[in-house]
Amino acid sequence: MSDRVIPIAEARYQPLPLPEPRALEYRAQPVDLRARPMHDLRISVTDRCNFRCTYCMPKEVFGRDYPFLPQSSLLSFEEITRLAQAFVRLGVRKLRLTGGEPLLRKQLDRLVSQLAQISTPEGGALDLTLTTNGSLLERHARALRDAGLGRVTVSLDALDDAIFKRMNDADYPVADVLRGIDAALAAGLTGLKVNMVVQRGVNDAQVIPMAQHFRGTGVTLRFIEYMDVGSTNGWRMNEVLPSRELIERLSSVWPIEPLNRDYRGEVAERWRYVDGAGEIGVISSVTQAFCGDCTRARLSTEGRLYLCLFAQQGYDLRELVRDARVTPEQLSDTVAAIWAARRDNYSELRSANSASGQKIEMSYIGG
Ligand code: GTP
Ligand code: 5AD
Ligand code: SF4
Ligand code: SF4
Repeated sequence: MSDRVIPIAEARYQPLPLPEPRALEYRAQPVDLRARPMHDLRISVTDRCNFRCTYCMPKEVFGRDYPFLPQSSLLSFEEITRLAQAFVRLGVRKLRLTGGEPLLRKQLDRLVSQLAQISTPEGGALDLTLTTNGSLLERHARALRDAGLGRVTVSLDALDDAIFKRMNDADYPVADVLRGIDAALAAGLTGLKVNMVVQRGVNDAQVIPMAQHFRGTGVTLRFIEYMDVGSTNGWRMNEVLPSRELIERLSSVWPIEPLNRDYRGEVAERWRYVDGAGEIGVISSVTQAFCGDCTRARLSTEGRLYLCLFAQQGYDLRELVRDARVTPEQLSDTVAAIWAARRDNYSELRSANSASGQKIEMSYIGG
């Protein structure tokens, strides 16, 4: 037993024991027990957020006294970069920075420039992207672009200020986010996407206005079914607007047609307006689970590897990456062994599973 003091925020979720490294097999790139490769690494750089979205960080839980991770618990940028390299060796081709709100992490552009230097084993570039609530994007877009960020996804749930403020519960106006989106476009960040979580009875009347606003702008709007993440958001199935219904509503205003997926494991189903006004997406994590193709790994702010958005525990990689005796190959081999034993398919089991047990908060692990 170590007598190390564990900050209270870390003791909240116990880590899983690390498996023995799986020597060299990573060269062939591991697949998990459901034959899923590793493609996408989502890196949470902070568990804090300046919003209190009711579906993600409700104020009653994430109040003044909430024990967020102390600075000393966070992975450093160098540690994140070394871990990212290990994942890239194992097949990861997309890195997504998330949070909480990633732009709250100081000097994030420094991390972006380190990650932008990682290339694939074939010498190609990675897809380097960021999910943000947009409120601080105006200030940071240029520096992020200059540091090598490829693209950005902005969350926005309404165009109506009253509805938006009710949802973010922190009095942020829509205009701040729209200015962030404009700044990202002006800075040359391409492939901009806007994610809207749709909650029936809360913001579903905003679906058409949001679509109207982003049609013809080159920005891809994606509608996300409201999920039962964490144990704190009071989820109810009747608050989910199934994507089928959403597509019907949209197509009664503008004809749309389906497109093929961009890549294996893409979570969004793509559609385009028949009149050429661009593309939209629907993410149906509740009504049409996409676990069968889930190629996503998640690294928490303090260095735990989670194999599923709904996992109850993660593997502590921070100890390993901080240990000077551990070589980059050993790091990869350990991650390969963890991935090879992965079986997670929470969303497929959701209806059977009565959501017992403590789940990880999305603000902690990243959307
Ligand atoms: P692109 O790289 O642009 O295709 O983005 P993406 O689809 O990887 O991801 P994004 O981070 O924008 O994810 C959009 C939303 O989909 C998230 O905020 C979640 O609500 C949901 N989502 C993403 N990944 C998962 C997942 O692995 N499981 C479940 N259940 N939902 C997910
Ligand atoms: N359901 C669906 N998506 C969620 N997100 C957070 N909480 C939920 C939830 N309960 C996602 C949203 C948001 C991103 C940061 O996390 O897509 O845009
Ligand atoms: Fe809202 Fe995103 Fe912050 Fe969660 S992390 S409270 S979804 S802005
Ligand atoms: Fe992947 Fe878990 Fe989401 Fe299924 S529920 S798609 S396994 S992260």
